[in-house]
Amino acid sequence: MERLQKVLAAAGIASRRKCEEMILAGLVEVNGVKVTTLGVKADPAVDAITVNGKPIKSEQKIYLMMNKSKGVITSAKDPQGRKVVSDFLPGIKERVYPVGRLDYDTEGLLLLTNDGEFANLLTHPSHHVPKTYRATVKGIPHGTALEQLQKGIKLEDGMTAPAEVEYHDVDTEAGEATITITIFEGRNRQVRRMFEAIGHKVIKLKRIRFGELGLESLGRGKYRHLTPQEIKELRDIAKSKTHKIHKK
Ligand code: URA
Repeated sequence: MERLQKVLAAAGIASRRKCEEMILAGLVEVNGVKVTTLGVKADPAVDAITVNGKPIKSEQKIYLMMNKSKGVITSAKDPQGRKVVSDFLPGIKERVYPVGRLDYDTEGLLLLTNDGEFANLLTHPSHHVPKTYRATVKGIPHGTALEQLQKGIKLEDGMTAPAEVEYHDVDTEAGEATITITIFEGRNRQVRRMFEAIGHKVIKLKRIRFGELGLESLGRGKYRHLTPQEIKELRDIAKSKTHKIHKK
């Protein structure tokens, strides 16, 4: 259930503000009943919604992956006027929203969709969908420090679930290491906080995989539609039991 003006805007009727005016003007009916106040909720999959007597068309579901650049906000609008992900979706008229977040300074694979059920499936904490990152950190973490991340480490919001961790590159001259880490949760700034907890500041972070889906040759700032097979595989991994982890 969503607010009626949001449902109308998502169906491409007009902007949300304009749709509010249409509701107040008495042009909108839900299941044959005229709605003239704001705040009424409806479900376009279930309710018969008309504008000026014409049924609204339900929006086609779309599924995208983007290679987000750093310096871009994962939200629809930014009050400070910074770049947002939708600025990088030319040709997409549907209102899509991100499946989970990437920090302003994190780059890499971001899924976007207008399918709320799909987004919930992939982000629900109990589904433990793996997300893989390349983290370049200051200093070279000792193997025992990485083992702590593998076992689970205490953060201010509790223990993390076990992660998969391996060295990708060690640059002794620069005093930096790049580590590939797969986590099965999606807490706020989780990877950065995990490395901070073992004494290593993350200086570059990129998500390279979501489930089994990788960025491959998708250029920075570019997006593409997912294939039906990729959508199915993402759904399957969220529902599968094989990668499910058990917290100690
Ligand atoms: N972990 C982080 O610290 N930041 C992200 O953007 C994603 C995961």
